[in-house]
Amino acid sequence: MPAEKIQKIRSERDIGRDELKFLLETDDVDALRSLRENAREVADEVYGRRVYIRGLIEFTNYCKNDCYYCGIRRDNRNAQRYRLGEDEILSCCAHGYELGFRTFVLQGGEDPYFTDDKICSIVSKIKKNHPDCAVTLSIGEKPRESYQAYFDAGADRFLLRHETADQSHYGKLHPAEMSLENRMRCLWDLKEIGYQVGCGFMVGSPYQTIDTIYEDLQFIRKLGPHMVGIGPFIPHKDTPFGKEKLGTMDMTLRLLSIIRLLVPNVLLPATTALGTIHPQGREKGIMAGANVVMPNLSPLSVREKYLLYDNKISTGMEAAECRDDLEKRMRSIGYEVVTARGDCAGFAV
Ligand code: 5AD
Repeated sequence: MPAEKIQKIRSERDIGRDELKFLLETDDVDALRSLRENAREVADEVYGRRVYIRGLIEFTNYCKNDCYYCGIRRDNRNAQRYRLGEDEILSCCAHGYELGFRTFVLQGGEDPYFTDDKICSIVSKIKKNHPDCAVTLSIGEKPRESYQAYFDAGADRFLLRHETADQSHYGKLHPAEMSLENRMRCLWDLKEIGYQVGCGFMVGSPYQTIDTIYEDLQFIRKLGPHMVGIGPFIPHKDTPFGKEKLGTMDMTLRLLSIIRLLVPNVLLPATTALGTIHPQGREKGIMAGANVVMPNLSPLSVREKYLLYDNKISTGMEAAECRDDLEKRMRSIGYEVVTARGDCAGFAV
């Protein structure tokens, strides 16, 4: 692919099906270098050589859903379930604040124990203790009224990966009681309410094709999210997809770059899953156009229980305690970790 084609994707912020197919399948190293360099240039133009950090608190691994890919699915009898209490969550935040985090991401399974009242109470206490911080929720599909209540309690952002924008692919990843339609309804509701919204998908999930990825990219362009989370699919042995193929780092890096070109302002995390499949996965993610990392702030005692997939990393750079190490690693590739809320620059698209 001539370099002008990549320039065109960059300037038009759009990609054709054939261009996508080419970029995902080629082993033309010049084309791939050009893709990566263009993506990094765009990220540098918008955010500079800065990496934003978010403290991730995995506060419950109970889940009423039964997604075929996920290790904390309802039917996984081998998962050791846990919940953090409100006080534990608040002390995670206080600890994170000391370490320099100014965004807290509360992520959990869809756990009915955490009623709207409980979530609102937690959110408003975090905002009261740390008024200069952003609170992000990642707690799944809810009625619009619930999303509104959390927002009114002070939540700033919400992450809900769409998982796939293709109807029939969605049906192969989820049981019949879940629907792409409701997933999309949630994302649009969140946006209308005024959240900064994140969507995303797994790379290399079973039954994914170039066509489903094309749908994902077009959906992302249409939604105009503030964040897009993508990471490789990693099988979990106690799920129906336990013997499926692993997603690759290479494909994830190509897609990070493509997404950076399509939505220049977007916040793009180099995810835990990317760090799990390769020791330098996250550095490579940053070099491909990502600009966020989300170290784990959960108490050490529960970290190894939030197992969405096999071999999930929870120590080393993953651990928030290792901020120094993270800083060193980012500095070694020319990037600076910043203590700032790190809101999305302007509005995506
Ligand atoms: N491999 C990679 N990512 C996964 N997720 C869930 N299970 C897996 C897996 N086996 C991702 C989903 C979900 C997010 C919290 O984690 O995309 O939205």
